[in-house]
Amino acid sequence: MRKKIVAGNWKMNLNVSEGVALVEELNVGISEGVKADELIVFPPFPHLYAVKDRAIKLQVGAQNCHTALNGAYTGEVSAPMLSSIQISHVLVGHSERRAYFNELNDLLAKKVDAVLDEGMTAVYCCGETLPEREENRHFNVIGAQLAEGLFHLNENQLKQVVIAYEPVWAIGTGKTASSAQAQEVHAYIRKLIATNYTADAAENMSILYGGSCNPANAQELFSQPDVDGGLIGGASLKSADFIQIANSY
Ligand code: 13P
Repeated sequence: MRKKIVAGNWKMNLNVSEGVALVEELNVGISEGVKADELIVFPPFPHLYAVKDRAIKLQVGAQNCHTALNGAYTGEVSAPMLSSIQISHVLVGHSERRAYFNELNDLLAKKVDAVLDEGMTAVYCCGETLPEREENRHFNVIGAQLAEGLFHLNENQLKQVVIAYEPVWAIGTGKTASSAQAQEVHAYIRKLIATNYTADAAENMSILYGGSCNPANAQELFSQPDVDGGLIGGASLKSADFIQIANSY
């Protein structure tokens, strides 16, 4: 059975002591029990070691990694470095990396490989911009993002992947996709997996929704049959909100 996952992408927010304080608050909330099967936080790189050290029943992921194992890539962080501190997940293809750092699907395919080679799980993000949706091109865009960045994997490797659908127009805008819009795209993604792999692979894939997800709308979104949880930005920076979202099943 696929997992219900709530993940917090902290993006470039909080200093290290604020991050540690947030995790300690989350530890308390989680100890009271949450409905999600798995909770993950994605802090910035300098926070990872300290957050990993404090986190109880909370997995810790990284927001990015390089494709190479090591070498002369000043400013970059490799997948083996992340796995060496037991990082469990890495975000690949977040729309902010696609837009501001020119990350294209062929590079993202290599990042996915780097993450999987280290035994970590890739959280592969896809989603359309507002003009792409307005021109009714969103299914094609998402289909290409998945085909070019992910579908080179074999079915066994795909078990080490979680997909996040994040419509760019909903990120940080307060404008959430309706639950029907989210469901429509999630069902489409699941159908693509069934077509390219098997019905089993599709059924077992966790597909998360991201984009202005908050305690007020999470329940409605997560009640959709193909929405298995959320990738949360702003609301993941407040422990009470994140825990409430993790209980929205
Ligand atoms: P917001 O929840 O702040 O809209 O961000 C969503 C996101 O980009 C998570 O990766």
